[in-house]
Amino acid sequence: MKILGIETSCDETAAAVVEGKTVETQNLASVRVLSNIISSQIEIHKKYGGVVPEIAAREHVLNILPVINKVLEIAGLNKKKPELNAIAVTIGPGLITSLVTGIETAKSLAYAWNIPLIGVNHIEGHIYANFINSHNSQHKTHNTNIKFPAIILTVSGGHTMLILMDGYGKFKTIGETRDDAAGEAFDKAAKMMGIGYPGGPVISAKAAQIINKSEIRNLKSEIRLPRPMINSDNFDFSFSGLKTAIRYALEGDKNWRDKIPEYCVEFQQAIIDVLIKKTISSAIKFNAKTIMLAGGVSANKELRKQLKKQVLKNNFKFSMPDLKYTTDNAAMIAAAGYFKFLRDEFTPWNSLQVDCNLEF
Ligand code: KG4
Ligand code: ZN
Repeated sequence: MKILGIETSCDETAAAVVEGKTVETQNLASVRVLSNIISSQIEIHKKYGGVVPEIAAREHVLNILPVINKVLEIAGLNKKKPELNAIAVTIGPGLITSLVTGIETAKSLAYAWNIPLIGVNHIEGHIYANFINSHNSQHKTHNTNIKFPAIILTVSGGHTMLILMDGYGKFKTIGETRDDAAGEAFDKAAKMMGIGYPGGPVISAKAAQIINKSEIRNLKSEIRLPRPMINSDNFDFSFSGLKTAIRYALEGDKNWRDKIPEYCVEFQQAIIDVLIKKTISSAIKFNAKTIMLAGGVSANKELRKQLKKQVLKNNFKFSMPDLKYTTDNAAMIAAAGYFKFLRDEFTPWNSLQVDCNLEF
């Protein structure tokens, strides 16, 4: 079964074709990626230090059809009448003026090709990135390693959530950020230090310059940022105080420009400490078998490494997406679409609507 995925929720125009196969039940399903293209606008938005919605919208309109054409070609499909079983598209949450391009394109193509449409929540897409087969050449049943119930730490530019997954399509939010998302905190801290956009990759690269080097031990005691809500008896997060804390720390240190890697190490570690502590304690409380990582911040190498270590130490199974499927992409949307297809969760093309504040 072949699904075209379309993702335009923010500043990436993305399309992908995946092939799904099922042996007996969804538990033995496997998704492999036939083609996956992301047309990134980062270079355009960089100079503004963040995404400019109006510019993003115009870029999506220009890029969407060439990107779709290319993924059909790479997947070896006929561009006029491709042998696709469905189109899966992100319907929210995200920027309304960005989402609408993906949705209207998906509707038009589904109508023209007479195939079903599947609306996908962007967060659900990030989660299903864990179910993409990394051995692309063959259909291995990748997701048999994931046992339910699972706790998913979903961390992106717009969301920080702990989600309990009891089966395919069965999700319950058990905690989330009360203010800024973890990715947003990375982006804002990087902006304060004037080191680039998006903040997550630049902060982690600066931190990596000195991580594991001996001098860090001394600096750690010098620069100390809070771990907000780390001991609270719930699974919520708060990162806006951390952002204020780093601002005050920089303002109070006239030599901060010479210590950017050290600030990055401490800032990154403050976020990682809170995320790991709450993830492990929620998994214990909900008797989870597996812990999964999802969302753009799951590209963070230290988070991947440290979380994996703690998860295995606490005897849970662990899953994280391949690096290329961590930040926004359409393969994850198509993968989520495949599992929805198996449950007949289609949306008639004339009722598929954008919902920029779509809840999870
Ligand atoms: O999921 P995503 O691509 O878009 C949203 O749905 O928001 O996530 C983007 C976020 C940005 O805030 C970016 O700074 C963060 O993910 N990010 C990272 C890393 N790569 C991307 N954060 C920390 N470390 C990274 N390596
Ligand atoms: Zn995302």
